[in-house]
Amino acid sequence: ARIVVLVSGSGSNLQALLDACADPAYGVRVVAVGADRDGIAGLDRATAAGVPVFVDSVAAYPSREDWDRALTAHVAEHQPDLVVSAGFLKLVGAHFLAAFGDRYVNTHNSLLPAFPGMHGPRDALGYGVKLAGATLFFVDAGVDTGPIIAQVAVPVLGDDDEETLTERIKVAERRQLVTQVGRLLREGWTITGRKVTIGVSDR
Ligand code: GRF
Repeated sequence: ARIVVLVSGSGSNLQALLDACADPAYGVRVVAVGADRDGIAGLDRATAAGVPVFVDSVAAYPSREDWDRALTAHVAEHQPDLVVSAGFLKLVGAHFLAAFGDRYVNTHNSLLPAFPGMHGPRDALGYGVKLAGATLFFVDAGVDTGPIIAQVAVPVLGDDDEETLTERIKVAERRQLVTQVGRLLREGWTITGRKVTIGVSDR
């Protein structure tokens, strides 16, 4: 199966996918990595793995809609079975969602619907929750609102700061991403309203 991964930063989730794909038994190939900016470690990781990259920065296009169309076209060129947003910091538009809405997943570093947005771990600490975690979901038009595929919880410890909690979440998040992307592509999925069903066995 073919995946395109979209990144904006360090790309440690991308790296986990690249590492998993090195084993043929995983059955997945990262066919391209896209970014909304140059000069990020995520692009270097892709290049080091021999994966083609493309960059579509919003500023390079006359409008957000033009950017959305260009991004859609660049992703489509690689004919992915699934598109994975792994720390991609841009909200895609209607055109992208029309093309990939039922096969575009994002990983977020909170237990949604709690703490959507840019600062999941910081907001979880601030609220004082005792469990934090990560959520993999199908992207819809909202911010971190789409149908949930899987969640993983980690404890919040008494001496955590934003950095230590963020790191603990990311370890679990990467593992979940690799497991669930493999599972989705092996078994297939259906989305009915908010309910995601993987495979046929538990339908
Ligand atoms: C992930 O924790 C994701 O949930 C958040 O940004 C992080 C991306 O990290 N939105 P990386 O670039 O994969 O290292």
